[in-house]
Amino acid sequence: MKRTSTIYICQSCGAETSQFFGRCPSCGEWNSIIEEAISPSGLKARKGRSTLSKISSGSRSETISSIKDTPIDRIKSGYIEFDRVLGGGLVPGSLVLIGGDPGIGKSTLLLQTATEIALNNSVLYITAEESASQVQLRWHRLNKVESNLHILAETDLELILDELEKLNPEVAIIDSIQALHDATISSTPGSITQVRECAAALQQVSKKKNIALLIVGHVTKEGMLAGPKVLEHLVDAVMTFEGDRFASHRLLRAVKNRFGATNELGVFEMQSTGLVEVTNPSELFLSSEETSGVATIVACEGTRPLAIDIQALINQTTYASPRRTVTGIGSNRLHQILAVLEKHINLALSRFDCYLAVAGGLEVDEPAADLGIAAAIVSSFKNLKIPKNTVLLGEIGLGGQLRTVGQIPLRLKEAEKLGFKQAVVPSSTGIDKENNELTLEIFEASTISEAIQIIL
Ligand code: TYD
Ligand code: MG
Repeated sequence: MKRTSTIYICQSCGAETSQFFGRCPSCGEWNSIIEEAISPSGLKARKGRSTLSKISSGSRSETISSIKDTPIDRIKSGYIEFDRVLGGGLVPGSLVLIGGDPGIGKSTLLLQTATEIALNNSVLYITAEESASQVQLRWHRLNKVESNLHILAETDLELILDELEKLNPEVAIIDSIQALHDATISSTPGSITQVRECAAALQQVSKKKNIALLIVGHVTKEGMLAGPKVLEHLVDAVMTFEGDRFASHRLLRAVKNRFGATNELGVFEMQSTGLVEVTNPSELFLSSEETSGVATIVACEGTRPLAIDIQALINQTTYASPRRTVTGIGSNRLHQILAVLEKHINLALSRFDCYLAVAGGLEVDEPAADLGIAAAIVSSFKNLKIPKNTVLLGEIGLGGQLRTVGQIPLRLKEAEKLGFKQAVVPSSTGIDKENNELTLEIFEASTISEAIQIIL
């Protein structure tokens, strides 16, 4: 007789318990535990697919240098921006999870990528959320010409696995993992057990048949990838597709990547005919006029330098305690810089409101932006403009000293490419001011007050 057992699973961390808790004993999340019924015999029944994936055939150990060197032949996605984030292209047999808010453009990105890859490779696009004709409608909207891209509109895991085995494509796309359903498990699609089991089964087929799998994952309202952390551990790369719903640019980031660097950034723009690559994104984040309170920095996203405007507005306060509002920068950083400016440049900022924003809705969390933030604040306070053709780089210490930051040559090269003429950098960068390949004029400062004197 088939016995069905009940377990309680935290939908946040995936912890299993034998009884119900209001708060997960493992991760501390409230109201995240739900009851799920699993039938163990049903699990095993799935055509003898073992739950352990076999990556290598032999079970003997060998020395690291004697392992046969197999060069990875990466599959190009057809988009330079996507390839860079992947680390140079898709690795056969790898699993890539792409997360993002609803409506951000995940399906559009993957349909476009699938069509491009289908020019040279066999691709199967599995749509579990839309019908095949809906996908075709979108595909027409993207102005695509004839293609031999295969489409399968299916949610049943068993049928999907069968089609993957039969068609044996080089690349497969699953849109989305939360919509898949394993009939041997009684819990609803999207629940942690379903997601975990579906992902594990897909991983086995992917490794066995050497299929590169691109999997779409939903994001919860807290911005986390829905489903258990185990999903993130299972896959080879996790990317997030993000952007402002009100702005047209979209950012693709690698959060985890076994085959490339993390924090790489790809920039796209959503247009009426789909996503278009933005090869020179710095232009997107720079304003054209020269006004007080605006400073330009060069941030580094992975290996990619990005010139970005920082805007500050300083106003006399009408409140008992002044307002400090930041967008795109941590508020602790702002408070720290305000304190340094108050102490070392004698600005009476405690009687002023301070609003700070990064242009284009970007997030900047690196210390290299400190000097730019400080200069934008002083510029707004004194109502003096920072020359438009100047970039500012450097971390500010609590003692008011200017510290060097990483990748200065790369950042200066980007600034030069964009037409900047001057740069203010910390004096400890080790850059030779006279003998370098740059045409930028470099000014060095060892403290924040020295730097402000140079800039304003
Ligand atoms: P979609 O890829 O369906 O988002 P997701 O799969 O992440 O939920 O993108 C939907 C949005 O993109 C929708 O609001 C319309 C917009 N869009 C365009 O602006 N241009 C286009 O060519 C396409 C196909 C979609
Ligand atoms: Mg979608």
